[in-house]
Amino acid sequence: MAATRDHKPHATGRVPAGDVSQRVGVEQMTARGLNIEELREKLIDAAGAEFTTYYYYTILRMHLAGKEDYKEICEDARLEDRSHFELITPRIYELGAGLPRDIREFADRAGCPDAYLPANPTAVEILTVLLEAERCAIRTWNEICDLTLGKDPRTYNLASRILQEEIEHEAWFIELLSMERDGVARPSGHFRRGTPGDAPHSKNLPFYVP
Ligand SMILES: [Fe+2]
Ligand SMILES: [Fe+2]
Repeated sequence: MAATRDHKPHATGRVPAGDVSQRVGVEQMTARGLNIEELREKLIDAAGAEFTTYYYYTILRMHLAGKEDYKEICEDARLEDRSHFELITPRIYELGAGLPRDIREFADRAGCPDAYLPANPTAVEILTVLLEAERCAIRTWNEICDLTLGKDPRTYNLASRILQEEIEHEAWFIELLSMERDGVARPSGHFRRGTPGDAPHSKNLPFYVP
């Protein structure tokens, strides 16, 4: 039925007018069958993985010393993980949750293993760590997409944007590891980012300061 001057079907709903203890943006997702508590916990775990990976990639990149091409690719993946953390964190708060007060708790509950510098930090060993970290990220964001598809368009949009970059990252490290370890060309289809940390799908715009 079309809305009329006297009939605005979306003007009211289950959340009473003026109630700031509930969010229609959450209630609508619940009505569509989404388990909000489960989603919140998975998003915090995923944000923890992005944040810790950003940290660990800093170390891994340092130890690709002398391999400027590898360092450049690692730098894009590193800075894009920071973008992923910053893209998804506001959503956690919108859903009524937040980041752990203690960064130790945050690191411990990260959804992916610590991307430690290997004991024998050759390029092959480091690229293997990078590749497996990207694979964990792909599994993570695919799961978030599955949970939210058709129920939470906003989280789905953010997760799918992150996922696109993670899929690119996996392809980059397959290309580098395949040639470095096996001497086999497996092109990733990589084009250079505009600037390091470009994050074409996931970057928050910088604050506008007039
Ligand atoms: Fe990431
Ligand atoms: Fe990544």
